[in-house]
Amino acid sequence: MITLPWCADIHLDHARPDAEARFLDALRKHGGEPVLICGDISVARDLVPALERIADAVARPVAFVLGNHDHYGSSVADVRDAVRALNARRPEITWLPPAGPVRLDADTVLIGVDGWADGRYGDGLSTPLRLNDDRLIAELAAQPDHAHRLAARQVLADADAARLDVLIEEAVGMALHVVIATHVPPVVEVLPDRGRLSSPDWWPILVCGATGATVRARARQHPRHRFTVLAGHTHVAADVLIGANIRVVTSVARHGAPVSHAITLS
Ligand SMILES: [Fe+2]
Repeated sequence: MITLPWCADIHLDHARPDAEARFLDALRKHGGEPVLICGDISVARDLVPALERIADAVARPVAFVLGNHDHYGSSVADVRDAVRALNARRPEITWLPPAGPVRLDADTVLIGVDGWADGRYGDGLSTPLRLNDDRLIAELAAQPDHAHRLAARQVLADADAARLDVLIEEAVGMALHVVIATHVPPVVEVLPDRGRLSSPDWWPILVCGATGATVRARARQHPRHRFTVLAGHTHVAADVLIGANIRVVTSVARHGAPVSHAITLS
């Protein structure tokens, strides 16, 4: 059993200084390391400074994946370059996808990929709902129409799923419990079955079917291993079991009032 300081969708660009200070204070008080952040940290212009403010406050290693909002006002390519450069300058701040598995204890290994809502659940072409990604992330804004933007998202999601497949194969050789950090939940089961988000119109923009297929396939292949997925993006707390050996947990979030948790992984 291990406990980690964990947060997702903190959107620090929406937090006033006093709210950010309270968040950092609470985060600092959670035991364990690394501090794990499952995306939507801020927007592109503030992403690197935000990660540095967090690392400075907690004085411990910080491991993160990127969320869609972290690219707003920039491009996927430039944001990835920026976080790689940050990691070269400050090795304690780690973007998980290129880092490879991080051992947490004898039984537990942490891996991560960003994940992208890929329209594979629900009807990605006909849903009337849109994320601001379409206007605010250069690679998506450059596409001529919705069908092309959906295709571009699926390319990003598929690349993350392929990376996740490699990471899981490495991780299962190291430990029996694999913790997967990602931003976009890989399964539709985390969405509430009542209220606004229960409409299938949301599924294409809230779930990454590609990483979900990878996790399900690898979990079936490794029935003795346990897989815990920590995600965000929905802003709604969920903790669901999928099959015999997959647990998926999502974090609650509210713009302007970032929160952190001590998550116990067993
Ligand atoms: Fe998000």
